[in-house]
Amino acid sequence: MFSNMPKDNSRLYLKLLLRKSLLALAAVEKNAALDLFAGKGELARRIYLDFRELHLVEKDPQQFSRLEAGFAGHAAARTWKMDNRKFLREKLPGLSGLDLVDFDAYGSPNLQIQWFFAHFQVKKPLLVFATDGGILSQIRGGGFAPDLYLAGGLAGPASFDPEKAGARASGYERIIYRNYERLIRGFWDELAKRHNFRIELFKLIEKKGGQVTYYGAIIEPR
Ligand SMILES: C[S@@+](CC[C@H](N)C(=O)[O-])C[C@H]1O[C@@H](n2cnc3c(N)ncnc32)[C@H](O)[C@@H]1O
Repeated sequence: MFSNMPKDNSRLYLKLLLRKSLLALAAVEKNAALDLFAGKGELARRIYLDFRELHLVEKDPQQFSRLEAGFAGHAAARTWKMDNRKFLREKLPGLSGLDLVDFDAYGSPNLQIQWFFAHFQVKKPLLVFATDGGILSQIRGGGFAPDLYLAGGLAGPASFDPEKAGARASGYERIIYRNYERLIRGFWDELAKRHNFRIELFKLIEKKGGQVTYYGAIIEPR
């Protein structure tokens, strides 16, 4: 059935706003960008087309067909139909001069973020964007993997009401919900130490009462 309700584009607008605001700082070159959760390319075709090289990775066949069709006329864009973990392991080491990486995941992107830094050394400023829906996917029945947040801090203001998350929220999970922003920041502080970079700027926006978090960072070699 068709609905007369207007489509809610606020998620896309927020993601675009975040990306445009950090790109506007001109902190990185526009040599190469990598979109690891490219979907059908909604974000990429609005903001990444002026990079000299654009790599778009998508594993879902339907999404990939739309992605491929949408970028057919763009010589700078290369589409990769594969799991991004395979890409990170096999293709990332061959990419040089990367200035931007985008992790626009549905759930937690932290596994891919860890794999990224396992195969990439920060040698110049890099712009990173991510969508973290780890809480939302947990509420919907997915598993939560605390390991993916390494050893982040666990104290701070409530950003999400665990009572509203339903009966699934155990004591342990409540701590995670209330401290999600800190968990993300702690994760990045730890990555920075492990991989020898520093975080120049970190901008974070929460949506749906904290269930989905959008963030962007400018990182530089130490
Ligand atoms: C939130 S959507 C991305 C939307 C996209 N940024 C856009 O603007 O159109 C997440 C996408 O990541 C893809 N995805 C999820 N896990 C993946 C994986 N392991 N490897 C590659 N793509 C993956 C999904 O199929 C989905 O299309």
